[in-house]
Amino acid sequence: MMKAKVPFFDLANQFKSIEDEIKSVMDEVFQTQQFILGSKVQVLEETIAQYCRTREAIGVASGSDALLLSLMALGIGMGDEVLLPPFTFFATAGSVSRLGATPVFVDIDPETFNIDPSKIVEKVTSRTKAIIPVHLFGQCADMNPLLEITKEKKLFIIEDAAQALGAEYKPKAGSEGRRAGQIGDLGCFSFYPTKNLGAFGDAGMVVTDNPDLAEKVRLFRTHGSQPKYFHKWIGINSRLDTLQAAILLVKFKYLEKWTGERQKKAERYQLLLQDLLPCVKGLRLPTVQYQNRHIFHQYVIRIPERDRLRQFLTEEGIGTDIYYPLPLHLQECYSFLKYRRGDLPHSEKASEEVLALPIYPELTEDQQMMVVDRIKAFYGKR
Ligand SMILES: Cc1ncc(COP(=O)(O)O)c(C=O)c1O
Repeated sequence: MMKAKVPFFDLANQFKSIEDEIKSVMDEVFQTQQFILGSKVQVLEETIAQYCRTREAIGVASGSDALLLSLMALGIGMGDEVLLPPFTFFATAGSVSRLGATPVFVDIDPETFNIDPSKIVEKVTSRTKAIIPVHLFGQCADMNPLLEITKEKKLFIIEDAAQALGAEYKPKAGSEGRRAGQIGDLGCFSFYPTKNLGAFGDAGMVVTDNPDLAEKVRLFRTHGSQPKYFHKWIGINSRLDTLQAAILLVKFKYLEKWTGERQKKAERYQLLLQDLLPCVKGLRLPTVQYQNRHIFHQYVIRIPERDRLRQFLTEEGIGTDIYYPLPLHLQECYSFLKYRRGDLPHSEKASEEVLALPIYPELTEDQQMMVVDRIKAFYGKR
C-alpha cells in the first residue's frame, strides 16, 4: 500500500510557482551589487507600513531583532520587568533578558493560546515597563483589555506579531478591524522562511505610528550611528539585506491570495474534523475569537494523547509539529527565575496537548483529506 506523503510544509512547491520572478529580481540586485538596505528595503518598508496601516516600518535582520530593537527604543533594561506569555517562541522572552530586564510570565487563555488579560494586573509591579502580547498562530491577542491596563498603569505594548502579518483584531462586528502591529506602541514581524511571508533567510520588521520610536529603531539597527561613524547611541548591527527585501517584495504580491488559501484550508479542517468532536474526549479545534481575522500561520489542534497520535501520523508519512513542547518559564535557562510546574497551568497543559497540522497555500485537497483520514483512522472512525 502506498504511504500518504504530506510534508508539514512545502516551500519548494511555492518557489516553483514564482521561480522566474524571484530569479529576475535577484539578478537585478546582483547587477547593482548593493546588498545592504537601499531602495528595495525602503520600498518594502513602505509596503509593510501601508499593509499594517502604520506610519512607519523599519526593516531589520530578524523577528528576534525586531523585538530587541523595540525594547531598546523604549529604553528597557536592567531592573525592568516585562510581562509576556510563556507559551511562545523563545525570542519573545530572550530579547527581554538580553537587555538585562526580567521576563515575567503570564498564563494564557486556553482557547486562543494568547495571553490572558485577566491575569495581567496581579503581575504588575513598580518595575513593570511593558507587555509583549504574542499573536500566536496568526490570531491577535485580546488587545482592548491590555490597552486599558497599559493606559492606567502607564506601560508600553510591543506586539509580537511575528506569526500574524495581516491578522486583524475585531472585537465587535461592524467595527473596523485593527491590524496586528498597529495596535500597540510597536509591532514586530518575522520573515523567517516558513512564515506566511517568508524570506530566503532571516529578516524582520518593526512597525509603529510613533516617529520618535521609529527613529530610534532606525538608529539602533546601524549601531546608533548618525552621521556615519558618529555614535549618539549604542546600537547593534541589524540591517535588512537588499536581496531579502527584493524577494519579499515579489512574494508580498501573493500574500493576500496565500492567506485566503490558508483560511480555506482551516475551514476545511474544521468541517472535516467536526464529527470527531463528540467521540474523541479532549479533542479541541482552533477557535477564532470575536470577529478576528485569523491568518492561520498554524492550524493547531489539542488532544490529550498527542504524542501517540503524532507518532502514528509520522509513520503514515504525515508531517506535524509541536509549538511549543516546553513553556518558557520551565526552560533550563530560566531556572533562576524559580518558576515551578503548576505555576502557569494553561501554558503547561497546552505544551502537552498541541499538535500543528500541515497548513500552507499549496496543500492540496487530496493531501488534506489524507491528513484527516489518517487522524480518523487513529481513532478507528474512518
Ligand atoms: C512568536 C515569535 N516571536 C519571535 C520570533 C522570532 O523571529 P525570527 O525567527 O525571525 O528571529 C518568531 C519566529 O520564529 C516567533 O514565532
